[in-house]
Amino acid sequence: MSNYYTTPIYYVNGEAHIGHAYTTFITDMLARYSRLKGEETYFLTGTDEHGQKIEESALKAGKPTQQFADEISALFKNLWDEFEISYDQFIRTTDEAHKKGVQYAFKKMFDKGDIYKGEYEGNYCVSCETFFPESQLIDGEFCPDCGRTTTTVKEESYFFKLSAYEQKLLDFYEATPDFILPKSRRNEVINFVKGGLHDLSVTRTSFSWGVPMPKELNDDKHVMYVWLDALLNYVTALGYGQDEAKMHLWPAQMHVVGKDILRFHAIYWPAFLMSLDLPLPRHIAAHGWWTRDGEKMSKSKGNVVFPKEVSDAYGAENLRYFMMREVPFGQDGDFSQRAFIDRINSDLSNDLGNLLNRIIGMSGKYSDFLVDSVDVEKYHAAELEEMYEILDNVEKFLDEVQTHRFLEELWKVFTIGNRAIEAHAPWTKVKEGKTDEALATVALVANVLAKASVLLHPFMPKTTNTIADTLGFTIDTESYNSLLKEKKLLATFTIKPVGPLFPRVDEPLIPEAPKAMMEAEKPKESKKESKKAEAPKEEAAGLITFDEFFNTTLKVGTIVEAEEVPKSKKLLKLQVDLGEGELRQIVAGIKDYYSAEELLNTQVCVVANLKPAKLMGILSAGMLLAAKDDEGLCLVRPEKPRKAGASIG
Ligand code: ME8
Ligand code: MG
Repeated sequence: MSNYYTTPIYYVNGEAHIGHAYTTFITDMLARYSRLKGEETYFLTGTDEHGQKIEESALKAGKPTQQFADEISALFKNLWDEFEISYDQFIRTTDEAHKKGVQYAFKKMFDKGDIYKGEYEGNYCVSCETFFPESQLIDGEFCPDCGRTTTTVKEESYFFKLSAYEQKLLDFYEATPDFILPKSRRNEVINFVKGGLHDLSVTRTSFSWGVPMPKELNDDKHVMYVWLDALLNYVTALGYGQDEAKMHLWPAQMHVVGKDILRFHAIYWPAFLMSLDLPLPRHIAAHGWWTRDGEKMSKSKGNVVFPKEVSDAYGAENLRYFMMREVPFGQDGDFSQRAFIDRINSDLSNDLGNLLNRIIGMSGKYSDFLVDSVDVEKYHAAELEEMYEILDNVEKFLDEVQTHRFLEELWKVFTIGNRAIEAHAPWTKVKEGKTDEALATVALVANVLAKASVLLHPFMPKTTNTIADTLGFTIDTESYNSLLKEKKLLATFTIKPVGPLFPRVDEPLIPEAPKAMMEAEKPKESKKESKKAEAPKEEAAGLITFDEFFNTTLKVGTIVEAEEVPKSKKLLKLQVDLGEGELRQIVAGIKDYYSAEELLNTQVCVVANLKPAKLMGILSAGMLLAAKDDEGLCLVRPEKPRKAGASIG
């Protein structure tokens, strides 16, 4: 059996951030682990380059689409190379071979009767490259996933008979309980399918940046829907429909994805594969979402964490360790430098780094660096047993991608080593003339480090190679088998001293997320509080520049509709005329002070460039200025009526 692992292919509309890096780190770790065990392994990553979103991004950048895609694809590839990601293949959906494979698959589904021509009418979110039925839109207009405005499309389209696969999919989930990992996400997929599947529009005529129809269909108005094109990369990479030499690697052992695209991988993709009579992947593993200091990362906020910036400052492998240790797989995670620094100082520097330093020091003093495992069993049978108990049971966590549990358990092995040194105090033993006992403790710790390093290798390949080098062995399938499966101890060797592997970190090493901009996006209450708390620390105590003030767009607006939000004590939903035909929906927490009727046709001051947020599931795209003291709250209004949209400032 072979193990084929994939990352999503990333859109080339922007640079990679630590979210993309996280997916790639996990997949790289799994591939390395599989190779370590000596299993046939193949690791695919790449870039997703078609679709309206890329076409529009290129247009914005003022570049020909292909050139734009080339440049960003190269950024991804270079980044993964800098991180020494051990991919076997980097696929691009603009590769000729891929396009041919997609056309082949389309034709096959068409011939089978699973693709038919019809007319599509619906709402499309370009950012998510997804259609949504009217019923799912927020306020009949906004994307339920990202909140952006959707566009209405009516066009001729080919459809994939997704509805025909509803029951087959449900049967498959039933029969394969560990198809979706973590298992806690399984129900969400099953419920979605049970809710009924619509046939899927799989071609578009409104733009041309996509894989053309198969020639045989003679219909070059259409290009393929980017998700059909994209998902097929997992088999076209193996030569599907072309040179099938690598098709023996199919089905994939695991597609690693973020939770945002689980539906595509757990529903559409298996349905496509069933249609193509191909076996289904063994697992879809969906991880959670990374934020920075509790905030969603976005370019406009200027708080995106770039992997290279972090690895230059903290070390690439420390970053891998942190991300895979900090967050339970499947849950959302937060990138905070404080948490990262704590992991480096306590797990890596204290628990692991010190352990190595201690035996380098002791063996240098007591035995001229010579380490011999001969007496380990005699003096440390209890510790060995305790260690094997952990090592024998730790690998199962990787089968379910529970990286945090795996690392947590593995660290208990280092604790055994550290405790053994405290308990047996080799320095006292040496003074008492019991040198072989002291040396046995040193050798025990060398073995602890060696065995744990082999299992840590997929997470921190270079670091563990350095440790292995110090301990006179090489990490490979052979040492995995002998040290872990056969439980052999290290042969006699001479330690090659190294300096500290994990220098302690005291201060954040990269600039913190820009505070001023983040504050502006928080709800009012916390804004006030944090200003109070933060001001003294800031230079020029809370003063902002002229430019900073004008980051905020303030406008006069006229309230043209107002209604209560059902079930809410505080909220009113307002439609505010901001001039030039722009109606803005704003949800404001002012019901204690104003009734909907009295607000109608009055003017207010609006913060007009706030990022939309949802309050009780209702989109709010702005904020009203209000003054508040112990007497209560009142709105700030222009002294005389002004035109809707008049600027303030
Ligand atoms: O969706 N936290 O590409 P994409 C965690 N081309 N992971 C994140 C993340 C975050 N904040 N942001 C991105 C696409 N990711 C399609 C995929 S596959 C056939 C086609 C990771 O560039 C996560 O793995 O939007 C997510 O699923 C993926 O990047 C989305 O990358
Ligand atoms: Mg995305």
